[in-house]
Amino acid sequence: MTTASERRVVVAGAGNMGRKWIAAIAATPGARVVGIVDVDAAAASAAAGSLGGRVHLGTDLADLVAATGADVVMDATVPAAHHAVTAIALRAGCAVIGEKPAAQTLAQALSLCAGAEAYDRLVLVSQSRRYNPHVDALAAHGASLGGLGIGQTDFYRAPHFGGFREEMDHPLLLDMAIHPFDTARYVLDAEPVSVYCRSFNPPWSWYRGDAAAVATFEMDSGAQYTYNASWCSDGAETSWNGAWRLNGAGGTVRWDGESEPVLDAAVDVTPAGPASGASGARSGIAGAWDAFLAALDAPPTTPRPRGHIHENVLSLAMVEAAIYSARAGLPVVIDDLLERAREQALADETDPLVRERLAGWGPVRDHLLRAGRAAAVG
Ligand SMILES: NC(=O)c1ccc[n+]([C@@H]2O[C@H](COP(=O)([O-])OP(=O)(O)OC[C@H]3O[C@@H](n4cnc5c(N)ncnc54)[C@H](O)[C@@H]3O)[C@@H](O)[C@H]2O)c1
Repeated sequence: MTTASERRVVVAGAGNMGRKWIAAIAATPGARVVGIVDVDAAAASAAAGSLGGRVHLGTDLADLVAATGADVVMDATVPAAHHAVTAIALRAGCAVIGEKPAAQTLAQALSLCAGAEAYDRLVLVSQSRRYNPHVDALAAHGASLGGLGIGQTDFYRAPHFGGFREEMDHPLLLDMAIHPFDTARYVLDAEPVSVYCRSFNPPWSWYRGDAAAVATFEMDSGAQYTYNASWCSDGAETSWNGAWRLNGAGGTVRWDGESEPVLDAAVDVTPAGPASGASGARSGIAGAWDAFLAALDAPPTTPRPRGHIHENVLSLAMVEAAIYSARAGLPVVIDDLLERAREQALADETDPLVRERLAGWGPVRDHLLRAGRAAAVG
């Protein structure tokens, strides 16, 4: 039974993550899955089995939103479909929570930022690894060290996925690196300025494209963030979150990606934030879902939540900049990339309302950061 205040959710994409999202939404009060859409009708039908009650199924998102009266779309489709799905949902009047990445390209992600503005709806990107009490503790310890100058992530694993990842040009950078890049922005409390990246494929790699990379980012705080990673390294594997080290004048904090971060401070420091687990917040996609529902219900003057699309876009910019740098063998300035992406978004945009918004922005970085401090929409 749907109550008046319950959010009515259509889930788009009933694959691996879509099924997890359906279970997470069903387990949370305040919302209800009323429809499932997938271009593969059999996938939608199979995913509906877990819900028991009556759920509308379809292959056309706009039709399903109209039929169900949904006010929220959860997008768990493949990255190539994220722009189209979110744009349709916004035009239908829905708020959107979508799986990472925000879109397949930075240009498409900027179009979605402008879409969120044009249709005055919340679009949140679920960067699920940010919702982790250890990451909050890492950030709090880092903040206690008196200005961080060095950040580093080592990531060495050897998964055999099969399928599309083993055929991509840059599987590690495109499919995985967005998680640590997004976390780095958060724990360093800094935004990326430029990157130099070398990507390569070790001789024994089972991937077609580059499965390893070393990327060094200059951050706007002056800190350097380095990502050393490989997806074809058997033995002594790191956790899926990688192994982290942050260093400031006051000492170092290390995190193995799985247990409590360990502070090694030169002086006695008190973390500014909660210790792991103290906040009681849920982790993973449940944490992202809670943040989304809270933002939808918040008064209009409340600042947008972390993960909203304007805030998330700079994580995607780090990925795209690292790939361009690796291809060109040159450093990439992220502001240049953002401006070129806006030009591309303007050239591709077919919705006049969204185009008008994109054209009216000042410098892209300034606009994104200003929007990050603005009041919620919803
Ligand atoms: N947060 C995480 O840790 C994490 C982990 C894995 C995947 N992901 C992300 O989740 C998303 C989905 O990944 P997955 O592993 O579930 O993929 P998947 O291939 O298992 O499922 C994707 C589904 O989307 C459907 N689809 C494709 N285009 C569509 C469209 N236009 N409309 C409706 N349905 C469409 C496909 O038919 C498929 O059923 C991706 O963006 C991926 O990057 C996130």
